[in-house]
Amino acid sequence: MKKGTLSVHAGSTRERYLGGVNSPIVTSSAIEYLDDTEVRYPRYFNTFNQQVVAAKLCALEGAADGIVTSSGMAAISSIMMGLLHPGEHAVVLEGMYGGTYSLVTTEFRRLGIEFSISSGEPDDIKEKIRPNTRLLFVESPTNPLLSILDLAAIASIARAKDIVCAIDNTFATPILQNPVEHGFDLVMHSGTKYLGGHSDLCCGAVVGPVHLMERIRAHALMHGGSLNAQECYLLERSLKTLELRVLRQSENALQLASALEGSHRVAQVHYPGLAAHPRHDVATRQMKAFGGMLSFRVTDGIDPDAFLRALDWIPCAVSLGGVETMVCQPVATSHQRMQHEERERLGITPKLIRVSVGIENPEDIIEEVLGALDSAA
Ligand SMILES: Cc1ncc(COP(=O)(O)O)c(C=O)c1O
Repeated sequence: MKKGTLSVHAGSTRERYLGGVNSPIVTSSAIEYLDDTEVRYPRYFNTFNQQVVAAKLCALEGAADGIVTSSGMAAISSIMMGLLHPGEHAVVLEGMYGGTYSLVTTEFRRLGIEFSISSGEPDDIKEKIRPNTRLLFVESPTNPLLSILDLAAIASIARAKDIVCAIDNTFATPILQNPVEHGFDLVMHSGTKYLGGHSDLCCGAVVGPVHLMERIRAHALMHGGSLNAQECYLLERSLKTLELRVLRQSENALQLASALEGSHRVAQVHYPGLAAHPRHDVATRQMKAFGGMLSFRVTDGIDPDAFLRALDWIPCAVSLGGVETMVCQPVATSHQRMQHEERERLGITPKLIRVSVGIENPEDIIEEVLGALDSAA
């Protein structure tokens, strides 16, 4: 089956008793066990609605096993804490999501887990690998600079050294990019973003092979980051329209990126769909479309705060991936906790604006953004 069909049907289970076409929401947190093959409990990630939505995500990512979690960070910490022991080492990506960066730089230090930060270039990753390296964790495209990594090249380095290779696939979604096809072991999502897609859910997911998921699940159930049945159902419902939303968001983002590229009020646009993006060729090879996220740097003459306040119907809000276009200034939001010098070095400055492009009419989006830039000039 193709993605559009899997989004609607994979995992979903009709409600046989009354003939309903949707999966029923099973609210019970206490479940009879005498005639079951396993003991079921919401925190164990094995209740009906948890398994239905995990099965849909596994089908979309091409993975054997998976769990849905109460946030994207619960998914990331389950991977990292489930797989790494004190004295072991991980290679993580420079410029990854600020929350992941904080987890690594604070919790790893506290727990005695070693780490190196890599630019993501294959040669640099090879250099950072040590005899005790057990995990390589990357993102592509990255938040907020939309850098693109060569997934097949990176996965082959990890495989050659028997290192688990994991990726945050939040920006691409399983519709646009399937890292398992390129050799990645584990794929995680902040489901709060595109998977939920309506800015009303906080959830996450990890999928991968059974032997790794067993270790991750064993850790995750002790730490308690499970998702309840109602939210699992909302996520299942949202996933049914994932392909429609993400393809439309990608079309809109490409149009907005092109319009911004042509504006004299914009110094630089970061969008993998533009021919000027340094990894446009790699993105074209490994992604079906280029996604709904972009960022741009306003020129010196534009006050970023005045731009944000000049927007009329586009909200300045934290989070992304919803049906509505949203903007934010990463220095004040997602990367607020990163050290100032580190942000400046990466190019995450106050002039950088991130846009999560929604499903609205593209002409309206462009008019609103260019109009606010004019007002802020
Ligand atoms: C790329 C990326 N990964 C992970 C996360 C963390 O997800 P959550 O906020 O659902 O814990 C975020 C949140 O913004 C994100 O943008």
